[in-house]
Amino acid sequence: MPRVYIKTFGCQMNEYDSGKMRALLGKDGFETTEELSDADVVLVNTCSIREKPEAKLHSFIGRVLPMKRQRRVIVGIAGCMAQVDGERLYKKYPKVDLVFGPDAVSRIGEMVATAQTRRVLDTEFLGEEGYPFPSDVDPESAHRVGAFVTIQKGCDNRCTFCIVPATRGDEVSRPIAEVLAEVSALVAQGVKEITLIGQNVNSYGLKIPNHPTFADLLRAVSAVPGVEMIRFTTSHPRDLGDDVIACYRDLPNLASHLHLPVQSGSDRVLRRMKRFYTRAHYLDVIRKLREARPDFVATTDIISGFPGESEADFDETMSLLEAVRFHASFSFNYSPRPGTAALRLLDDAVPDSVAQARLERFQARQREIAIEEHARLVGTVQRVLVEGPSAHDDGVVCGRTSTFKTVNFPGEAALTGSWVNVRITRGFANTLRGEAE
Ligand code: 5AD
Ligand code: SF4
Repeated sequence: MPRVYIKTFGCQMNEYDSGKMRALLGKDGFETTEELSDADVVLVNTCSIREKPEAKLHSFIGRVLPMKRQRRVIVGIAGCMAQVDGERLYKKYPKVDLVFGPDAVSRIGEMVATAQTRRVLDTEFLGEEGYPFPSDVDPESAHRVGAFVTIQKGCDNRCTFCIVPATRGDEVSRPIAEVLAEVSALVAQGVKEITLIGQNVNSYGLKIPNHPTFADLLRAVSAVPGVEMIRFTTSHPRDLGDDVIACYRDLPNLASHLHLPVQSGSDRVLRRMKRFYTRAHYLDVIRKLREARPDFVATTDIISGFPGESEADFDETMSLLEAVRFHASFSFNYSPRPGTAALRLLDDAVPDSVAQARLERFQARQREIAIEEHARLVGTVQRVLVEGPSAHDDGVVCGRTSTFKTVNFPGEAALTGSWVNVRITRGFANTLRGEAE
């Protein structure tokens, strides 16, 4: 059997797309391998959200291309970088056989077949009508407790810092019947936790009259027998309506956690980012979520050093952190991306050292808050869905609470997929430790 090796950088979308490529190539007789040296086809699924991930592609390709001197191997660059920069990459790496964007994932089989005889560059965006969301399920999800299900592709927002609309095109919602069929297929394989993914899930279906909304979709997924936990990402604070908040009151299998990227605590910066909500609105959404679900936990994304951000603006981000007490966050320095509107604001660029100092200030305080919040959990009993043996400790298993806390505790691998009541004995910045009750 020919073997495919897929290296994935970036977000859940890319992980999911890689899974679809494994599934589609599996139908063509390919087997997945974890060993680069065994592979007949090597695909790298790239990310372009910030500059750093791009450097990773270059070092990976540098490792793979020399393999071609020893034997026949087809090498492909997929994903967001390929979409925005495909032609340049195609020219820069004449030994790379395939360069294709996210919209070409459903054609991976044909492309790999074609690449036997000639090079392929495919960065066409498909129309919204009949957009092909492959229904084949990632073979690797059969061994997993949780799986992603895409509900939407692309994004119609134009946040001024963000390259995603250029890499993934306009928003297209996946028909609800297809989403539910994939959820059922995963549950039939033993998956317990479903994470619905899209660039802006809260706007699901809104473009089409009488289409089910995201809240309708949540209720439908919640009712699929065997779905024990539902998560979703990514949410936009402007589009998260009261109908979705009501789901936190009504649906017991909806997780008590939401990742709600705020980006900045300053209204002036939010305006320049074209986020179309205010700090007050964001705080109001968090308050309502807590009312609907008392143990609700929020996590977020923050950008430091967006053009024009003053010290006072960043103080607002710090005070938002205090007001919400996020349990975790992803925070990065602003990274100028090609073709984005924020490039026009670069006259007002924040010096790197200033952005970095702000970032470190935020991260240090975030860490303290996480440790404080986790210390409060010591002595409580938490329900944990076990994901499998710990990667680091023998005889220890690792799972998650509904609030998205990673909990490690002594236990057998056979507990994988079951719920265990765990008494928390220690809290760290990113994880908890406990003992089964
Ligand atoms: N620079 C820095 N961070 C960015 N993000 C998106 N674009 C940029 C950029 N140009 C961050 C945002 C987003 C997360 C996925 O990545 O915080 O929520
Ligand atoms: Fe990018 Fe904004 Fe769309 Fe998120 S909502 S993908 S940040 S443009």
